[in-house]
Amino acid sequence: MAKKDLISVVDMKDEWPALVDLAIKLKAERGHHGDPLKGKTLAMMFEKPSTRTRTSFDIAITELGGHALYLDVTKMQMGHGETVEDTARVLCRFAHGIMYRAFDYKMMDKLGEWATIPVISGLDNLEHPCQALADIVTIKEKFGDVKGKKVVYLGDGNNVCNSLLYACAIMGINMVACCPAPRMPNAEIMLNAANIARENGCEITASHEPVEACKGADVLYTDTWISMGDTTSEADAIKLFQKYQVNDDLLSIANPDCIVMHCLPAHRGQEITNSVIEGKHSVVFDQAENRLHAQKAVLYTLLKD
Ligand code: CP
Ligand code: NVA
Repeated sequence: MAKKDLISVVDMKDEWPALVDLAIKLKAERGHHGDPLKGKTLAMMFEKPSTRTRTSFDIAITELGGHALYLDVTKMQMGHGETVEDTARVLCRFAHGIMYRAFDYKMMDKLGEWATIPVISGLDNLEHPCQALADIVTIKEKFGDVKGKKVVYLGDGNNVCNSLLYACAIMGINMVACCPAPRMPNAEIMLNAANIARENGCEITASHEPVEACKGADVLYTDTWISMGDTTSEADAIKLFQKYQVNDDLLSIANPDCIVMHCLPAHRGQEITNSVIEGKHSVVFDQAENRLHAQKAVLYTLLKD
């Protein structure tokens, strides 16, 4: 059987609803899974810092009976000139899966092309699929039936936003990307997601008007205004994104049982206020916990014999 990657959400479009349900089932098992990945090693390559992705993947494969190996790319030969093609072919001789956090999606794609074992994205400049899986798990956990819900993403149309667009479209969730014109999500992803959404009876739309967009919202979602590797200055980011800040005023426009999500790390006083992230609508730490259960679902599905 050909190996499968999770580099973009659409790589596992058909399996996505089952991945969500599996993550919820594995969460209920509370770490008692019977070692289905015994003897499996996940090589984890990081070009950027991480708290959630690194720890949740490591703990996820450990609790499934396998083992994780942390690789700091700056300390690997790949960080000193060895090609990604050679790195891929070597790691395949040792490990059963590779998780990669990359600056450039082209490197991610090349790793996927040359590796004969599954490659799982731990984020690149285009997508963050494992985050989107944890996000959908969280929305499902909070609302039960997700179809027809309305997610409003506010701020920078970045990797997290791009993957969430795909994930919502697949699950029949309406999503508005509410971002300033120069920082809209990737145009091709918006278009593809809108087409997938049409098949699933929901809509993917764009807006530059937070007050209008937040009407009837079930979920308000935001992320940092300056992603890792982005050279925008803080002063420019504040000018560009200030009106997209998730604060009490915007929250009061959304539905009364609206939940507030953030992939973390958060910058209180910038993309989200302290009172909102610490307030009763915030589910950010449940969302962070769900990274663990989502990673388990991905690892089980891709690495199990
Ligand atoms: N949300 C997320 O991916 O966090 P880390 O950068 O800590 O992995
Ligand atoms: N958009 C952020 C997400 C961090 C988890 C970044 O790429 O830095």
